[in-house]
Amino acid sequence: MLIRDVPDDLVGWIDEERTERRLSQREVVIDAIRKASGKNKKKEILPLQFPSPPPADTYLPPFSFIDLFAGIGGFRSALSKINGRCLFSCEWDVHSQKTYKAWHGEKPVGDIRDVKMSDIPEHDILAAGFPCQPFSIAGVSKRQSLGIAHGFDCATQGNLFFQLATIVAAKRPPVLFLENVKNLKSHDKGRTWEVIQNTLDDLGYWIFPKVIDAAGWVPQHRERVYIVCFDKKKAFPTRPDFMFPERPNIVSPKLKDILEENPDPKYTLTPHLWDYLQRYAEGHRLKGNGFGFGLVDVEGVSRTLSARYYKDGSEILIPQGKNRPPRRLTPKECARLMGFDKKYQENLVVSDTQAYRQFGNAVSPPVVEAVGREISRVIAARLMENDCVLKRTGTEGGRSLLKVGR
Ligand SMILES: C[S@@+](CC[C@H](N)C(=O)[O-])C[C@H]1O[C@@H](n2cnc3c(N)ncnc32)[C@H](O)[C@@H]1O
Repeated sequence: MLIRDVPDDLVGWIDEERTERRLSQREVVIDAIRKASGKNKKKEILPLQFPSPPPADTYLPPFSFIDLFAGIGGFRSALSKINGRCLFSCEWDVHSQKTYKAWHGEKPVGDIRDVKMSDIPEHDILAAGFPCQPFSIAGVSKRQSLGIAHGFDCATQGNLFFQLATIVAAKRPPVLFLENVKNLKSHDKGRTWEVIQNTLDDLGYWIFPKVIDAAGWVPQHRERVYIVCFDKKKAFPTRPDFMFPERPNIVSPKLKDILEENPDPKYTLTPHLWDYLQRYAEGHRLKGNGFGFGLVDVEGVSRTLSARYYKDGSEILIPQGKNRPPRRLTPKECARLMGFDKKYQENLVVSDTQAYRQFGNAVSPPVVEAVGREISRVIAARLMENDCVLKRTGTEGGRSLLKVGR
């Protein structure tokens, strides 16, 4: 049976149960059928780690994290909402630093290649949406070339992923939470992903990758690969029962719900640009190419907001009737399209160009939050186990943090 065949009021109830009991849709439905049939009473599904369903917030153990390649802090805004406390951030772009400071009260440190290991505090989760670069390593065997056997002598590699791997090797955070473009797996003929996977594997982490479309949370088709890893050497000797979240909405939110009522007319395309885009698209169509501007259906979802949106905004254009050229999204609408909360939407401190670039590069916070909750669930379960080396220790800022036997 498909969930779309279930009446809306029941889907609402299932979603409420899911949120409260931290179960998947499937688990809720099976549990309800079990109860109704009177069978398997003993097998009633309750969250694994608690004898009875806890209030949602007790499910979120406090944890610490660091925010690398931080951009404007998409990870930070999401993880802070689920009891995460950021201990360190790194981002070299001055405009992103400006937004980050305005939003999170802290200016990230600059180039990650200049960061000393001793400057990075111990942390529970390393969060990073690292840039996707090809690995240009010639003439040596792959594993050797990774420098793993040589203690991550990454200065010679020059690749930012190796900077990240070096930090992981030195700090051994229990959890890694990484994000990247969907084509990471096919990038450089699959070589980039192979190197990343081998590196994480050699570092001793369980690896869970999944492409998730943010359209389950926001009115934007935005597929990104999320890679969640758990340290198997210490914190998670057995493979944890981690599952990526299911999309909370079967029907995506609608674009019309995030549009401003009276956007500034400066976002309307000039007749000249609109004319040019139409002619350009027509030229491509005649040649059999797919290029086109993206005049969106406001009842649906938009295409992916890219960092290039500031150029002409052609990938997402809002129709304004027959007699008026369409318009671009405003930066505030871009903040909403990504799922940033109101307090961020109302606090835009850089030029439109920079804001478009920053939102186009960012992670979608509601997706990060949903994945983060599943990570929390695994951490909470692990904390309940007797042999757990994860301990709640320290009370920095009045909040306990997790530490791995240290
Ligand atoms: C894909 S974006 C990450 C965006 C971020 N996740 C967010 O939500 O805003 C990658 C970021 O890495 C930053 N970056 C690239 N090279 C860097 C370096 N060497 N040191 C520090 N940051 C760097 C870029 O400026 C960019 O903001």
